[in-house]
Amino acid sequence: MRIVMIGSGYVGLVSGACLADFGHHVTCVDKSEAKIDALERGEVPIFEPGLDTIISQNRNAGRLDFSKDLAAPVASADVVFIAVGTPSRRGDGHADLTYVYAAAREIAAAVEGFTVIVTKSTVPVGTGDEIERIFREEFPGKDIAVVSNPEFLREGAAITDFKRPDRIVLGTEEPRAIEVMREVYRPLYLNEAPLYFCERRTSELIKYAANAFLAMKITFINEIADLCEQIGADVQKVAKGIGMDKRIGDKFLHAGPGYGGSCFPKDTLALVKTAQDYDSPMRLIETTVAINDNRKRAMGRKVVAACDGNVRGKKIAILGLTFKPNTDDMRDAPSITIVQALLDGGADVHVYDPEGMEAAKEMLGPVVYGKDAYEIAEGADAVVLVTEWDEFRALDFKRLKALVNKPVLVDLRNIYPIAEVVRHGFSYFAVGKKSGS
Ligand SMILES: NC(=O)c1ccc[n+]([C@@H]2O[C@H](COP(=O)([O-])OP(=O)(O)OC[C@H]3O[C@@H](n4cnc5c(N)ncnc54)[C@H](O)[C@@H]3O)[C@@H](O)[C@H]2O)c1
Repeated sequence: MRIVMIGSGYVGLVSGACLADFGHHVTCVDKSEAKIDALERGEVPIFEPGLDTIISQNRNAGRLDFSKDLAAPVASADVVFIAVGTPSRRGDGHADLTYVYAAAREIAAAVEGFTVIVTKSTVPVGTGDEIERIFREEFPGKDIAVVSNPEFLREGAAITDFKRPDRIVLGTEEPRAIEVMREVYRPLYLNEAPLYFCERRTSELIKYAANAFLAMKITFINEIADLCEQIGADVQKVAKGIGMDKRIGDKFLHAGPGYGGSCFPKDTLALVKTAQDYDSPMRLIETTVAINDNRKRAMGRKVVAACDGNVRGKKIAILGLTFKPNTDDMRDAPSITIVQALLDGGADVHVYDPEGMEAAKEMLGPVVYGKDAYEIAEGADAVVLVTEWDEFRALDFKRLKALVNKPVLVDLRNIYPIAEVVRHGFSYFAVGKKSGS
């Protein structure tokens, strides 16, 4: 099959490379010259474990190439995926579909012969209908089918998620499109990943419903964590205790600083807006969004409290900036709000992240960037663990104690047992479990 991927970001590049790995011929297109130039030089513009190997293997095998222009590859394609961004629209929180519709028009102008157009971007219900209308009214005579195929991969584990998905959701009732999509995903089907076909509008909603549910689960355990702190219970044990119940499951029950990243914040907001538009409000999700927004700022206050209620003039060392480990993605990371709250309180903030510092420089205020955890801990009045990168999981507390001004650890990911930290002379503050010194 000849496949074109429009948009070579976190989703497009991973999906394109993996589809090439299945044996298809894939061209990844992007408007960003810098991205395509980098890819053509053999550099991978994002950090995603294992992606560089898959890209270079498939380029060498002649199955994967890159282009700034979509016209030629689209003309000979069987399938064109749209994987461009759908950020929050400024001002109202709806998904901004400018990039999707612009891509659709460019594709429509170039398409020749029967072609399946697939939305892999997360798009609100009805977007597929609108793409179909654009083709029908503005480019009549083009033989196309529009399919919804939302992506569920997680950054940091994107390749495994793409190649071993729980399910592949495909929104189409068009027999020719069903046949083509079966062919695209045949290797996964042979691997026993279920292909779940449904109507296009249902498929579009499945993606938002999935993300909203997961965001709600995280928010639920975060509120239980707050209650645990008040009543002296341990949120990790509560999570384990409820997670063993198969009806609940143990995933997405880690209390922390609130969800962030490029999907949950914008997708929950977009679902709320869609629901309001259709006069069918989703109050659970509205509340989830509000609780999560407040939580990030509350984590800043938690650090201030750990510093005896005042951070003015104090040095705070922040370990981890990205919204989760194993990615360089800083979009809507809780660290942004936490750092701002500390800067507002007059703190001298020093930060370190293994992969996220380049992107962070465009998002954080006046902070100092260090080269590792120990460098930024020197003279610190508190060390705050925000993102649970592996390299922060076995900190040398003896070394750290000798470096800091005050031995205070605020562990917003609950990765340390209190006894281990306190044994080294630190005061320990966690989320939803016992703090102490
Ligand atoms: N990042 C994730 O973990 C994730 C997971 C599942 C779904 N999604 C969804 O997938 C979509 C893409 O997300 P992302 O994180 O990959 O975004 P991204 O910002 O990393 O990548 C989008 C890319 O599209 C390019 N682009 C925009 N318009 C274009 C056009 N007309 N032609 C060619 N290229 C164009 C941009 O230059 C950019 O490189 C979004 O809808 C997102 O919600 C993301």
